[in-house]
This record gives sequence, structure tokens and C-alpha cells, in this order.
Amino acid sequence: MSLTKLQAKIAAGEKIAMLTCYDATFAKLMELEGVDMLLVGDSLGMVLQGAENTLNVSMHHMTYHTKMVKNGAPNTVIMADMPIGSYEQDNEAAYKNALWLVKSGAHIVKFEGGGKRVETARYLVERGIPVCAHLGFTPQSVNQLGGYKIQGKTEESAEQILKDAKAMSDAGVSFVLLEMVPAALAKKITESISAPTIGIGAGVDCSGHVLVIQDLLGIYTGAANKNPNDFKAPRFAKNFLIETNSVQQAVNNYVQAVKNKTFPAAEHSY
Ligand code: KIV
Repeated sequence: MSLTKLQAKIAAGEKIAMLTCYDATFAKLMELEGVDMLLVGDSLGMVLQGAENTLNVSMHHMTYHTKMVKNGAPNTVIMADMPIGSYEQDNEAAYKNALWLVKSGAHIVKFEGGGKRVETARYLVERGIPVCAHLGFTPQSVNQLGGYKIQGKTEESAEQILKDAKAMSDAGVSFVLLEMVPAALAKKITESISAPTIGIGAGVDCSGHVLVIQDLLGIYTGAANKNPNDFKAPRFAKNFLIETNSVQQAVNNYVQAVKNKTFPAAEHSY
């Protein structure tokens, strides 16, 4: 599988099923069950390390987990997150860190934000590194955004997200990931830009969808130091394990649900 083959699938009208993945065992399982693309997300700071957010994830963590995923899924497209601090300061540093992820096994790198980040995307793309822009709720800005909140609810912020998505698409990004935005806005963006969109909490009309594997299995209960009884799963999460007793089957059911557009349903969207 390659990025261009994935893009051909999307052009033919097929939805792309993506999952986060951080190790070789899950990578192998996901490749066998037909997951189209694996995201080595900096969500590993939360779901593997037990932190409250992604702000302590480093390039060393990201490259370490990207190598494991590559070992387990040598034939699947791998996207790796650029962690906070690895791409914001200057484009040359962003390029060096992106290259490090590519050398660790990533086909494409993802980073958060629009605005100034558009030039960073263009800089990497011009140097041959495929990029995914992450817009909407951007977890690395959780402190600025005042918590885990849906974005693009006001006309002004919806306009800004649409503008950023267009600018990123024009800069040559391969995908725009939309997190926690109203379904109607995600649909409008998907119809307005040439880059395919990947949604998480963004309605069914995106070109593809992503879930955190721990959410798909219903096993994430919040930060390590928090009481699991206080944890409320996000609206976009669906436990696919509850309908089967097999992790493999749960992953397969997720892939099928994305392909036949039964996931995400209205109850998983905003
Ligand atoms: O880090 C991550 O897992 C992500 C997803 C939530 C899209 O960016």
C-alpha cells in the first residue's frame, strides 16, 4: 500500500479506515484486518504513558513507537505525529524532525494548526515529505483552547477552520484531519478542498475516519492518576469490542463500519 494508492481509493469513493497504533502486535493485527492507515499519534502520551495530555511527548517517543509500528505493519501506510516543540520554531528544524520520523518508518507526518503552519507544510512538501494538517480541536493547544472542546461552532471560527483547510490543501498537504468540529462544517470543508479529509468527531462525510484504538476497545479510562469512575468517553468514541469477544473482529467491524458509512453515526457527531 502507498499513499497514492490510498488516494486512488478515496477518489473512487471508498472511505479510508484509520486507527492509532503504537506497537508491532497491534500493527500486525490491524494490517491483517485491512486498516488502511495507521496513526502513531502523540495520544500515546495519554493512552500509553498515562498523562493528562500530549504535552510531554518527545521526538524520541515518536520515533521509538513509529519503528515498532513499521516492524508490525510493513505494508500499511503509516502516519506519525510531530510532537509539540518539534515543528513550531523554524521550518528547518521541522524538516529535520519530519525526516527523522520518515527514517523511522513514517510515510507521512502530521502536525497541528493552520495560520503560520501553512508555510511549514509547504516547506516539507516541497522537500518531498508528505504532510497531514490537523485542524479543529488541536490537543497540543489544550491549555489555550481551555479544555477538550468542540471547535468551529461560531461562524467566525468555522470560517477560520475552512480558510486554514483551504490554505493547507493549496500548500500541497496529502490529508486534512478534522477533530471535534460540527459535521456540517466537516462536510463543507471536504467538498471545498482537494485534499481528502480524515475525521474524528467530525461526522460521516469526511473522506476517512480515525479512532484511538483504546477507544475502539473501550479500555481507556482517563489519566493514570484519575479515578476511572470520573471518566466520560468522548462522544465520538465507540466501543466495537462490546459486540464481539475478539479484538481482531472488533477492528474488522470498525473497518467495515467505516467502509459502509455506518460509523460514525449521528450519535458520534456534533
Ligand atoms: O494523537 C492522536 O491520536 C491524534 C488523533 C486523536 C487524531 O491526533
